Amino acid sequence: MRRPMVAGNWKMHGTRASVAELIKGLGNLALPSGVDVAVFPSFLHINQVIDGLEGKSIKVGAQNAAVESKQGALTGEVAPSQLAEEGCSLVLVGHSERRQIIGENDETLIRKFAAAQACGLIPVLCIGETLEQREAGKTLEVVGHQLGSIIEKLGVGVFAKAVIAYEPVWAIGTGLTASPQQAQDVHAAIRAQLAAENSEVAQGVRLLYGGSVKAANAVELFGMPDIDGGLIGGASLNADEFGAICRAAGN
Ligand code: PGA
Repeated sequence: MRRPMVAGNWKMHGTRASVAELIKGLGNLALPSGVDVAVFPSFLHINQVIDGLEGKSIKVGAQNAAVESKQGALTGEVAPSQLAEEGCSLVLVGHSERRQIIGENDETLIRKFAAAQACGLIPVLCIGETLEQREAGKTLEVVGHQLGSIIEKLGVGVFAKAVIAYEPVWAIGTGLTASPQQAQDVHAAIRAQLAAENSEVAQGVRLLYGGSVKAANAVELFGMPDIDGGLIGGASLNADEFGAICRAAGN
């Protein structure tokens, strides 16, 4: 049985004051015991969140990390070892906003994935197709390639200590959600791709869905056999809404 996970990606949102508010809201939530809950604040707020959530079983992760695992001369970057020391346990790798807006490519993401694992962080590998790619019938090819680039370089075994988030780019922040069946179809293909290499790893890895998940659509999405929870953007900035999504994963 895979333990569900719900993770909140706060993106480039937050001030000290709004983060304090959110921490307070999260602190008051009754969270289901069978679900791993995590939040990904901006680098600036990681400390504030770790301190503020002390004693609450919510993991804290970073939205990005350097290609090198250890501290050193790499201006503007944050090393996975530094994140681990601060108390982070997870890191997003390859979110579509970083692939598309910052221009991160597979080569870079392979290094980030490996650097994170070298420091004991759990990478959450984000993969997904654009609307254009979906309409051209290329969804499985695109997602398969994004996943395949990691498997090819690092081996399928790395997914024993990683999470995968399928996030169709057209569903992120748009209010458009993949239907539960559309998401399930891609999740099943991802698991099959892993299973072709190692069935134990494929059965154990958590596959999260992301893209306009809300309390209102979470139950149906999380009810699909290969959807093990969600990566939540906009709705994770509201503690009550986020709590409701976490409870949906516990059902
Ligand atoms: P969204 O973002 O929930 O606001 O669509 C999801 C994500 O980008 O992780």
